[in-house]
Amino acid sequence: MELEKTLRERCEAHGQGHVFRFWGGLNAEERGRLLAQLEQVEFPLMARLAREWILETPPPARFDRIEPVPVLPAAVHRGEGAPEAWDAGEETLRAGKVGLFLVAGGQGTRLGFPGPKGCYPIGPLTGKTLFQYHAEKILNLRRRFGCALPWYIMVSAANEAATRAYFAENGHFGLGAENVVFLRQRMVPCMDGAGRFMLEAPGSLSMNPNGHGGCIPAMVENGVLDDARARGVEMLSYFQVDNWAVKVADPYFIGWHALKGAEMSSKVHRKNTAREAVGVHCLCDGVYQVIEYSELDIYPQLLETDAAGNVRYFAGNPAMHILSVEFVQGVFNRFDRFPWHLARKKIPFVNDAGELVKPDSPNGCKFETFVFDALQFVGHAPVAVEIGRLGEYTPTKQFEGDNSVVAARRSMSEWWGGWFDAAGAPVPRDADGRVSVPLEVSPLFALTRDEFVEKAAGRAWDLSRGLSVDADGTATAPPA
Ligand code: UD1
Repeated sequence: MELEKTLRERCEAHGQGHVFRFWGGLNAEERGRLLAQLEQVEFPLMARLAREWILETPPPARFDRIEPVPVLPAAVHRGEGAPEAWDAGEETLRAGKVGLFLVAGGQGTRLGFPGPKGCYPIGPLTGKTLFQYHAEKILNLRRRFGCALPWYIMVSAANEAATRAYFAENGHFGLGAENVVFLRQRMVPCMDGAGRFMLEAPGSLSMNPNGHGGCIPAMVENGVLDDARARGVEMLSYFQVDNWAVKVADPYFIGWHALKGAEMSSKVHRKNTAREAVGVHCLCDGVYQVIEYSELDIYPQLLETDAAGNVRYFAGNPAMHILSVEFVQGVFNRFDRFPWHLARKKIPFVNDAGELVKPDSPNGCKFETFVFDALQFVGHAPVAVEIGRLGEYTPTKQFEGDNSVVAARRSMSEWWGGWFDAAGAPVPRDADGRVSVPLEVSPLFALTRDEFVEKAAGRAWDLSRGLSVDADGTATAPPA
C-alpha cells in the first residue's frame, strides 16, 4: 500500500497520474507489475526529455564547423609503428588487462527471426550462431595469449532469459560460466505527443531499452566495473552482436589504444556510398562525435563526394571501440549530461476504453542513448583506426540486400576462400571471380590466415560443393 501511495503521488506530481486509470480492474499480479515498472522510472529525467524534445521544439542540432576526423590509415597495420602497436597489444592481453563487452540487447526481428539476434544461425553449412562465432574466437585468443578474457554481455528485458538459457544449454561454449557475465540494461517509458507515458496493456507501461549507451550505467549498476577491476581488467573491447567477422580483441587496436594513452578508441571503415546506413565519425566544432545516419540530411556536407566519387567524410562507424574502465566510470559520474536521441515510432497503446490500438503512423516517442556519444567526454583526441571490411565488418541488419545475412555468408566464402588459396587448394569461382561455394572455418581451428596455412599444410581439400572445417580440422562437405 505504501509503495502504491508513493508511486501514485510521484506520477501525479509529474503529470503521469493517468497510468493508474485502470487500477480498479487489475489483478494482484498486474498491479505488482505496474508498480515494479514505475519504480524503475527516472521521473525527473523523463520530465526533462519531454520538455526538451516534445513540448518545446528542439533546436536543430547545428554545428558551425564539421571536419573529417584524423584517422590512422588501414595500412598502419603494416606500416610505421605497427610492430610496436602489436607488441603493446599482445603485452596488454597477456597481462589480463582486456575484457570483452558485447551489446546484445536486440532481437532478430529485422532478420525475421523470433529470438535474440545472437542466436541467429549465421553459418551457411554448420548453422553456427553469431554467439558461437564470437565464443570460438575468444577461446582461440585465450589459448594464444594465455588470458581469461572475461566476456560481459549486455542483454535487455526482452531477451535476457532466452540468452542466458542459450548459453547454459551450450555449456557457455567451454568459456566457464564465471567468465561470461550478463548484465541487463534499463528500460525507459515511451511517451505520446503530449509527453504522457503510454500503456501497452491496462496494467503495463509501454517501454523500450535505453539504447546501447545504456551500457554505461548498466556497467556500474550491475557491478561490471567492479568485477573488471577485481580481475585486473583495465580496458573493454566493445563490439556488436550482429557482425560475425568482428575481431573481438584485436592486438593492433588494443596496442594503439595503450600506446596513445587513450580513454576511448574507435575503428572506422570507408563508407561505400554517401548514404550508407552507418554513423560518421567527424569533428563538430572541434569536438569528436559520431553523427548518426538518420541525421545525414541535417548536415549535407556529409554527403559530399570528390571527383572520383569517394565520400569525403568517409569514416563510417562499425561500432567497435575500446573503452578504458576508469573512463566508463568518469562518463557514468556525468551521465546526467549524456545526450539522448528521440525516434518517433508507431507504438501500440491502450485507449481510454481499455482497447489496444495499433496506429498506422508514428504516434509516440522512444528515447535512446548511443555509446558513441561517450566520445564527446574524452579529454584528449580519441584514436580512430581504419579497417578494411572483408574479414572484419559484415553486419547483419536484414535478410537480403546490403548488410544482410546473404551478404554476410558471401563474405565468409570470400574471406575463407582467400585462406584456402593461400593453402594451395583449388577454390571454385564464378565468371566474376567470386567464390561460388559456401565455406566455413571454425575460429577454434584457425583465427588467422597464417594459422590456417600452417595447420592446413600438406592436406588436400575438395571444395567443389563447399566445405566446413571444424575445431579439430575435420572437413565436411554439404550433401550432394
Ligand atoms: C548501429 C549504429 C551505427 C553503426 C552501425 C554499425 C546506432 C544508433 N547506430 O546502427 O552508427 O554505423 O550500427 O553496424 O546504434 N543494442 C542494445 N541495446 C539497445 C539498442 C541496441 O544492446 O537498446 C545493440 C544491438 O543488439 C546491436 C547494437 O546495439 O548489437 C546496434 O543496434 P542496431 O539496431 O543493430 O543499430 P543500427 O541502427 O544498425
